Amino acid sequence: MAQAGTLHDAFIAELRDTYDAEKQLTKALAKLAKASSNPTLRQAFESHLEETHTQITRLEQVFESLDEKVRGKHCDGIAGIIDEGKSIMQEDFDETTMDACLIAAGQRAEHYEMAAYGTLVAWAQAMGHTDAAKLLQQTLEEEKAADKKLSGLADGGINQRAADAAHPDEDEELVAVASSARKSSTKAGRR
Ligand SMILES: [Fe+2]
Ligand SMILES: [Fe+2]
Repeated sequence: MAQAGTLHDAFIAELRDTYDAEKQLTKALAKLAKASSNPTLRQAFESHLEETHTQITRLEQVFESLDEKVRGKHCDGIAGIIDEGKSIMQEDFDETTMDACLIAAGQRAEHYEMAAYGTLVAWAQAMGHTDAAKLLQQTLEEEKAADKKLSGLADGGINQRAADAAHPDEDEELVAVASSARKSSTKAGRR
């Protein structure tokens, strides 16, 4: 009977999955950057693409620190997230709405990576692979920062501009409601 796999085997399998995910993401981030209209958003995707190249090298160092062959295994999870992003890019949205959607697609990928690296760091620490844990932690921090940057861009105007384009009359309606509320309260005050 074959010996049951250990957490170390699961760890190596997870590293191979993540290595492949990062490689898929280099292509996806280039597409996200190209599809961005907002220059700051394009820059955010481009600089995270640069970071992703470093993250790939870092994973190679992790494999070496564990005396394991550098090898990837197809990551179905990120492939699905990337496919969803691709179909959004084919939609006919206005520029700001497309930017909001690109952020949504990018953040799905970042959260997937945060989950993967969070597990990898925890497992590396638990098994005493301290060099690997340090390298993986650096990448985890970069993924969190990339996610935060995208949230900042969404909250910093892109979402609101897209929302204003979706509901251009909203402000006028609010003004109308407020002014009719004022009139009726004045009437009530006269009584
Ligand atoms: Fe990454
Ligand atoms: Fe990332």
